Amino acid sequence: MLRDQHLVQVHVLLNFLLILIVIAPTFGGHHEFRIKEATISEIRNAFQHEKLTSRQLVKFYLHEISKLNPLLRGVIEVNPDALRQADKADRERKSMRGGCSSELHHLHGIPILLKDNIATKDKMNTTAGSLALLRSIVPRDAGVVKKLRKAGAIILGKASLSEWAHFRSFAAPGGWNARAGQGKNPYVLSAYPCGSSSGSAISVAANLATVTLGTETDGSIFCPSSSNSVVGIKPTVGLTSRSGVIPVSPRQDTVGPICRTVADAVYVLDTIVGFDKRDGVATRVASKFIPKGGYLQFLKPDGLKGKRLGILRHPFFKPRSNSIATLRQRGVVLVDNLNISNLDIILDSSMSGELTALAIEFKVALNAYLKELVASPVRSLADVIAFNNKFSDLEMIHEYGQDILLLSQATNGTGNKEKQLRSKLEKLSKEGFETLMREHKLDALVTPGHNMISPVLAIGGLPGISVPAGYDPKGVPFGICFGGRKGSEPKLIEIAYAFEQATHIRKPPSFKP
Ligand SMILES: *[C@@H]1O[C@H](CO)[C@@H](O)[C@H](O)[C@H]1NC(C)=O
Ligand SMILES: *[C@@H]1O[C@H](CO)[C@@H](O)[C@H](O)[C@H]1NC(C)=O
Ligand SMILES: *[C@@H]1O[C@H](CO)[C@@H](O)[C@H](O)[C@H]1NC(C)=O
Repeated sequence: MLRDQHLVQVHVLLNFLLILIVIAPTFGGHHEFRIKEATISEIRNAFQHEKLTSRQLVKFYLHEISKLNPLLRGVIEVNPDALRQADKADRERKSMRGGCSSELHHLHGIPILLKDNIATKDKMNTTAGSLALLRSIVPRDAGVVKKLRKAGAIILGKASLSEWAHFRSFAAPGGWNARAGQGKNPYVLSAYPCGSSSGSAISVAANLATVTLGTETDGSIFCPSSSNSVVGIKPTVGLTSRSGVIPVSPRQDTVGPICRTVADAVYVLDTIVGFDKRDGVATRVASKFIPKGGYLQFLKPDGLKGKRLGILRHPFFKPRSNSIATLRQRGVVLVDNLNISNLDIILDSSMSGELTALAIEFKVALNAYLKELVASPVRSLADVIAFNNKFSDLEMIHEYGQDILLLSQATNGTGNKEKQLRSKLEKLSKEGFETLMREHKLDALVTPGHNMISPVLAIGGLPGISVPAGYDPKGVPFGICFGGRKGSEPKLIEIAYAFEQATHIRKPPSFKP
């Protein structure tokens, strides 16, 4: 009896302590803001209530990078000026206190990592992961970087990637480059991180930055976003400027956000879209798609209601989660078992002509990029190939080769052949994707599980969003991908946001072996 009473007392005491521990943080004073997993809107709120400074935020990420990056290799270099930029942001916010700091841009004081093929005119290198471009000096910031700086974002550093955005060789693994080595999937270290925007996805998944930018030519935002359980937006080609981005193909390249949440990705997208005279034709054409009032208005919890989504079935597209049931429950009209004409040709880049077109375009575009550099050890694709041969050990040429570079070097510029390929690809996209969307009056196409939709969207310059959709039994993440017509970002955002809010599937990585 005594003993029991004693037990009860201990129990009560323990419960009391537990309650104290749980509720203590809500009593003013020492409430620490948790940076890990924080969203942009939570960070902005903490800024406004003086619970957080940009300096604290940058110091947190620098510390996490020094701790985790030797393992993950998601970051290729950090910006020596990041803390200075943070202090500037903190001063600016302070000087605006008294009500108007909420008027600061939503990326003001927010640290962002940029894929290492996006030029910054500062102390950092811009190399696409290649040793050949170390110490090259870019003429100016990339178009998207100008917009980020104007918004007051902090350029935290450069994210690693598959070298040359995976346009060096077929054999090189995704996420590998000679400067940073092999990037690792933070969920399951032995799992494929995918690329080419590997470092952006790895880093933001592992909380090494608030948000990141990636680039895509065919799959380079979708695949790593899906593999690392983060959200990737591949914007319509031309919606975001490609100026100052080490190119693959002006016809297919696009710059887009990779973030932990749809809302964070939309904040970033909203900041980087728009006309840029250095990518004048494409950004002028696409700027008609930018909605009045920007993209934030499409973050609607009921955004799935009444949407018509087509499901593409193909031996490759294996449904792997109950995502489809969720879509149905949330009011989506599903049009199932659709077939895109010539899908087998579209999915095979040799048969479609996509690979040859990219090889031709890469040589022309890369040579133009290299010529414009203020200083550089290499001035042409031929120089890059020679550099790789000379430093074949460091660049692991014996292991991974450089067959795509060689294929590209053997092309003869954009002439008749390129025009023919271009119209073939346009025709494939029109007769396939566009016809399907029109005939079934679809708002978007969805591919459950790992996406193989990227070539379908790539050859048409079309947009898409990848959202976390689950984890396989080993804990390896997979995403769901929504693709749409040119300029359909508003609809895709509604769909992706509502899906995310209905499922909340993403969880922070656990670094399993
Ligand atoms: C750029 O590369 C050079 C050469 O490796 C290196 O010394 C320098 O530290 C790099 N810059 C940064 C900011 O890491
Ligand atoms: C798509 O192809 C499959 C198999 O060839 C067929 O069963 C299905 O009816 C087709 N779907 C449509 C909408 O035509
Ligand atoms: C490029 O031009 C050379 C010489 O005119 C020719 O031998 C070669 O076949 C051409 N290559 C391609 C891929 O068209």
